[in-house]
Amino acid sequence: MAVALLVAAGSGERLGAGRPKAFVELAGRPMLEWSLEAMRAAGINDVVVAVPPGVQAPPGTIGVPGGTTRSESVRAALAAAPSGDVVVHDAARPLVTPDTFTATLAALADADCAIAAAPVPDTIKEAGDDRLVTATLDRSRLWAIQTPQAFRRAALERALAAPDDVLAQATDDAWLVERTGGTVRVVESTPANFKVTTPHDLRIAELLLADRLPPAPAH
Ligand code: CTP
Ligand code: MG
Repeated sequence: MAVALLVAAGSGERLGAGRPKAFVELAGRPMLEWSLEAMRAAGINDVVVAVPPGVQAPPGTIGVPGGTTRSESVRAALAAAPSGDVVVHDAARPLVTPDTFTATLAALADADCAIAAAPVPDTIKEAGDDRLVTATLDRSRLWAIQTPQAFRRAALERALAAPDDVLAQATDDAWLVERTGGTVRVVESTPANFKVTTPHDLRIAELLLADRLPPAPAH
């Protein structure tokens, strides 16, 4: 079975909760616990968690100090990971479901990397600094990229061997595979697997996850 890298070392500035986002309480448990539960339900038992300085990783996981950028956190986690294919996931996507892990890992059968992605519902236009529209993109070919992102081990190692300034430009790890010539496949996911970035997102996640909790015992 594959190894999961759970990146949880960000500071959560845009959320503004006064502590690292992945450890903010969400529907009764720290945010990252929701992703850990989905990983375990998908049969993934080896999990490396990149944590902020001074923060403990959850029991049963391997903790490593995260890096300055997200990709550096992924690189640090990979260095501590047991052998095998790898699936990288943002702790900031607590609504992930077990089948998304299973589907991205299965898609490695014919690609170096397989990434969860949702079709884009809005029309997307490109505009210049003057806000004049320069193009309307063909929406049927556009995908909003999420995590989980699954990788053949060698492809991710090659991708993350890039210099730190290249890593700092990466908004996802799949791009690092693209730039080193690897094949990347999209695996259809749902917009429900959104990233918690702002207090508004946290509120929506809270409402959706509250439905998944077992009912409170009767008094
Ligand atoms: N992350 C990380 N190490 C970093 C930066 C980010 O492990 N140096 C992780 C975050 O913990 C999060 C995921 O990468 O799970 C996606 O990042 P983002 O949503 O940007 O989270 P933060 O960086 O924490 O938030 P912000 O950018 O608002 O500070
Ligand atoms: Mg960030």
